[in-house]
Amino acid sequence: MSKKITIAIDGHSSTGKSTAAKQLAVKLQYVYVDTGAMYRAVSFYALRENLLAKGSLDIEKLVESLPDIHISFKYNKDTDRADVYLNGENIEKQIRTLEVSGIVSKVAEISEVRAKLVEQQKAMGEEKGIVMDGRDIGSVVFPDAELKVFMTAAPEVRAQRRYAELLERGDDVSLEEVLENVIGRDHIDSTREDSPLIQLPEAKLLDTSKMTREEQFELLVSWAEIAVEKA
Ligand code: DC
Repeated sequence: MSKKITIAIDGHSSTGKSTAAKQLAVKLQYVYVDTGAMYRAVSFYALRENLLAKGSLDIEKLVESLPDIHISFKYNKDTDRADVYLNGENIEKQIRTLEVSGIVSKVAEISEVRAKLVEQQKAMGEEKGIVMDGRDIGSVVFPDAELKVFMTAAPEVRAQRRYAELLERGDDVSLEEVLENVIGRDHIDSTREDSPLIQLPEAKLLDTSKMTREEQFELLVSWAEIAVEKA
């Protein structure tokens, strides 16, 4: 059996990271972890507990509540993916709304939130054989990952993709709103103080603007094969 490696996929929002990472994990029979879902789960908790009641996020309260926030994943055979759970409740659907997207970058800026989630993510990768996607996987969570990928695409292309997804779910949003959210999140994610999104020199660049999912997948598989051979 070939050696198991760690694969870190970082990049901008709505680049198709999760889909590509998931497909790659299935192909390699690795575990797949969507870390964005974990930040979204904390954001959902904040919304539900009214920690945004006065318009701005009550960071102090959220940090105080962290010991009460337990995030886990469980396989869903209908979608062939792991759903995210908050304190035992499946919240996979609730975390994908524009409302959650609207505050998640703010939540992800909080160092205490990051420290908690990073610790859990590192533990999930102890055995290797994992594909994890996010913003700081190659830089913070798995700096020794054998394969690091940086995914990006033009903001308009990403907004169009996310817009189509939201429409399909029946959400009432405009393309302009989605584009604004995509651009706003890029800015916060890349300029925040703690673990900003960066393109590491050793990361392979995957610009999906003009690529089909099949093309992205083929490229990722070839990079993974080379990384396994080298490991
Ligand atoms: O991948 P996504 O769009 O579901 O991520 C949601 C937000 O979470 C994104 O705006 C940035 C943040 N995030 C992060 O800061 N670090 C990660 N490892 C993953 C996501």
